[in-house]
Amino acid sequence: SPSNRVSIIGAGKVGSTLAQRIAEKNLADVVLLDIVEGWPQGVALDLMEARGVERHDRQIVGTNDYRDTTNSNIIVIAAGVPRKPGINREDLIKINARIVTEATKQAIEHSPEAILITVTNPLDIMTYLAWEAADLPKHRVMGMGGVLDSARFETFIAMELGVSIAEINATVIGSHGDLMVPLPRYSTVNGIPINQLMDAGAIDRLVQRTRHGGAEIVELMKTGSAYFAPASAVCLMVESILFNQSRLLPCCVYLHGEYGLQDIFLGVPCRLGYQGVEQIVELELSDTERAAFIESGKLVAQNIEEARAILKTAS
Ligand code: APR
Repeated sequence: SPSNRVSIIGAGKVGSTLAQRIAEKNLADVVLLDIVEGWPQGVALDLMEARGVERHDRQIVGTNDYRDTTNSNIIVIAAGVPRKPGINREDLIKINARIVTEATKQAIEHSPEAILITVTNPLDIMTYLAWEAADLPKHRVMGMGGVLDSARFETFIAMELGVSIAEINATVIGSHGDLMVPLPRYSTVNGIPINQLMDAGAIDRLVQRTRHGGAEIVELMKTGSAYFAPASAVCLMVESILFNQSRLLPCCVYLHGEYGLQDIFLGVPCRLGYQGVEQIVELELSDTERAAFIESGKLVAQNIEEARAILKTAS
């Protein structure tokens, strides 16, 4: 509908690219909020001026004031600092946890009916903290990880086989990090599992490359990290929610007994519609797949505890 509004907190590379995709795909009006004065206003004006060429009527507003985000359908949290030299993991968690919880509280205060999508890393931890800060029902909070990881796996499968990406569907579950669990058995070329199209060695190579997909790009870019594919991934989730498409996508969601796990946000396939997470789909997993999934969950649970401790000592 013409009145759909998506507010993006953090008008950096991911946030501004996402704003462009949402507006140019004509999905919703966009509010870009950032802590830096002038920056989101400048990005928004630039995107508005692109409309003269792109020919759409979506409004893009840049602001430093949460009041401008009032009554958003969706809030995307893409604010934070990236990993960089001289800042260790603990400091990064501390800084981003502060930013994410603060931003979430303020955004939800002005849009109490919104669905919340987090993008800030470390993703599974930040999504848990955002959920606590937002105090929203669990089906209205999710993190973007699995859609990006699956898109990367799909890309590598397409490159390996030399087939069109349009034929490929891949599934990646677990944490959005080194311990993510790509599932070759649930990754297909036009319905045919990739196990039948390439040998185990090749699959293993693609799985490893997928696990290090984010790091590979950082190594190349050196002073930055991925943002085109992350923005595209969030955009797909936004579209499924706004247009109630009920797409089945791997997302970081709250598990309450599903997959045998409790009180954790972790990547699993779920259906997204305008209520948010409509359904969590419990895949049949082999013992090895299940063990890898549980392992990634353990690390996330530890990290959440660690983040809580860090936040306590810091306050
Ligand atoms: N409130 C609002 N915006 C903030 C705040 C805050 N408290 N703190 C920082 N920001 C803004 C920064 O000013 C910057 O514009 O967040 C933006 C982050 O943008 P980039 O540094 O370009 O980072 P980006 O590449 O967009 O990644 C953002 O998404 O994929 C993840 O790991 C990535 O956690 C990172 C996040």
